[in-house]
Amino acid sequence: MALTMRRASVARPAVSSRSRTVTVQASAAKHLGAGAAAVALAATLSLAGPALADLNAYEAATGGEFGIGSAMQYGEADIQGKDFSNQDLRRSNFTSADCRNATFKGSNLQGAYFIKAVTFRTNFEDANLSDVLMDRATMVEANLKNAILQRAVFTRSDLKDAVIEGADFTNALLDKTQVMALCKYAGGVNPVTGVDTRKSLGCGGQRKYKASYPSNPDGPQVQEDEKEAFRKTLPTYRN
Ligand SMILES: *[C@@H]1O[C@H](CO)[C@@H](O)[C@H](O)[C@H]1NC(C)=O
Ligand SMILES: *[C@@H]1O[C@H](CO)[C@@H](O)[C@H](O)[C@H]1NC(C)=O
Ligand SMILES: *[C@@H]1O[C@H](CO)[C@@H](O)[C@H](O)[C@H]1NC(C)=O
Repeated sequence: MALTMRRASVARPAVSSRSRTVTVQASAAKHLGAGAAAVALAATLSLAGPALADLNAYEAATGGEFGIGSAMQYGEADIQGKDFSNQDLRRSNFTSADCRNATFKGSNLQGAYFIKAVTFRTNFEDANLSDVLMDRATMVEANLKNAILQRAVFTRSDLKDAVIEGADFTNALLDKTQVMALCKYAGGVNPVTGVDTRKSLGCGGQRKYKASYPSNPDGPQVQEDEKEAFRKTLPTYRN
């Protein structure tokens, strides 16, 4: 028992007990009713609560992860045409999900995972997609109008005919062929950040394109306050 307790106290996110509690409480209430939820909550709060592995499985099933309740699990899910508009979905997992025609309009998806996701005609208008990982995603005809895509990674992703009017690609990483294709029709200014879409993509010449590499010290830099804001969203696993 003593060993279990020690393990749990080291590996559990120290700072996130509040959001974890909220997640557990909310989902427990959903499944068990208020009385049982109080018992479940008390069990969770005391160190004699469920073993860590059980807790992780429970959390994965109920959506909370990484110590923040917003990280939903939609890995490999079929969510075609589903409505996820105006939601807090930071760090959610849409790996290999079928998101065709789904809408994420106005949602905060910062740091979400869309590895190998199919986002054909998916609506990301006005969404905050900063720091997302879109590796090998199919984004054909996706709507990225006025989306914030700062520091997003789009390696080997297909953005053919995506709507990018007013999208902010500052420090995003795209394949060169994609940048060239997007620059043929890119335009607009992001209404939130005030960033010019063409400038953020580094359109207009080889020199500018090179300067837009995130690792180039002469290119646009991630500001300290941006870094600090991102750090604040990270869960703390120990004090
Ligand atoms: C995301 O979902 C995929 C597929 O279900 C899974 O393999 C992966 O471990 C998950 N990643 C995270 C960060 O939750
Ligand atoms: C997507 O939506 C369009 C109309 O908005 C519809 O014609 C099409 O069948 C839908 N496709 C899927 C895969 O849901
Ligand atoms: C995007 O969301 C993150 C996390 O909530 C936030 O820190 C950041 O300021 C947002 N970006 C913009 C441009 O609103």
